[in-house]
Formats: sequence, C-alpha cells, structure tokens
Amino acid sequence: MESNNVIEETIETYRIYSESDVMSAVIAIFSLAQNKGFSETEVSEISTSVSELAMNIVKYAQEGIITVWSIEQSERQQGIKVVAKDVGPGIEDLSTALEEHFSTGSSLGLGLPGVRRMVDEFDIESELGKGTQVTFIKWKT
Ligand SMILES: Nc1ncnc2c1ncn2[C@@H]1O[C@H](COP(=O)(O)OP(=O)(O)O)[C@@H](O)[C@H]1O
Ligand SMILES: [Mg+2]
Repeated sequence: MESNNVIEETIETYRIYSESDVMSAVIAIFSLAQNKGFSETEVSEISTSVSELAMNIVKYAQEGIITVWSIEQSERQQGIKVVAKDVGPGIEDLSTALEEHFSTGSSLGLGLPGVRRMVDEFDIESELGKGTQVTFIKWKT
C-alpha cells in the first residue's frame, strides 16, 4: 500500500466474534469518523466498509480483529486506516471474490467490491488455511 510520509497513530482495536461486536465496532467508528471531521458521505462510507469487513469476519472466519489508525500525510492530509484481520480459512480465488455479486454465502450487502469502491486505497491479502487481511485508507476531502 502506498504510504509515503505517513504518520500513523494507533487509536482503537475491536475484537469481532459476533454480530453484536460488528454493531459496536460500526457505532464506534461512526463517531470517530464524525469527530475527525469527515463529511456525512465519508462517515457512512467508512462505517459501511467496516460493517462489511466485520460481517465477513463473523460469517467466514468466525473471529478476527479490526484495528483503526488515525493517519496523517505530509502534515496536511488526514485520514483513517482500517485493518481487518483474521486467521480463518482464507480466500481461494481473490479475483473472483472481488467480482461484483460474487458470494459463497448469501448476501445482499455491498461486499468487497463495494468496499473497494468506497475507499481511497484498498488492499487484500489472503492465504488458504492461513487467513485474510483487508486494509483500507480513507482520506478526508
Ligand atoms: N474474511 C474472510 N475469510 C474468508 N473468506 C472471505 C472473507 N471475506 C470474504 N470472503 C469470501 O469472499 C467472498 C466475497 O465476499 P463479499 O464480497 O463480502 O460477499 P459476501 O459476504 O456477500 O459473500 C465471500 O463469499 C467469501 O467466500
Ligand atoms: Mg460480505
């Protein structure tokens, strides 16, 4: 992921085991993004993305961790970086998983392609049997 001159500051870690953990994380990130001064649209894009990634953890990996960083680039640009990490089954075919409307479960959500569209930087690493890590960055406009 592109990260030249990025100052990172860890802010929160959320353990995700259940749908109620997803809710708590989403609510926390919603107010965090609001407090950082993101626009209403950006706040909803950030919280929807976190919701999708956290739900994937519950559905496919059973448990995982979401970490949120407050980031700053070149003393000017402010943003949020989110990492959703699990040691679940991993994803067999990443390019298929990133296709619109692909699902091995059944869902009406925006899914991974939706998250990729809503954020500024998106990265996914996954290995079968080892787990999955999704990282995204959203910059304040
Ligand atoms: N954390 C994860 N661990 C294992 N597989 C995952 C994970 N996240 C996503 N996947 C796989 O990628 C597919 C696409 O995910 P997504 O776009 O969120 O769609 P959906 O959750 O609606 O199926 C899922 O159906 C699942 O097979
Ligand atoms: Mg999903």
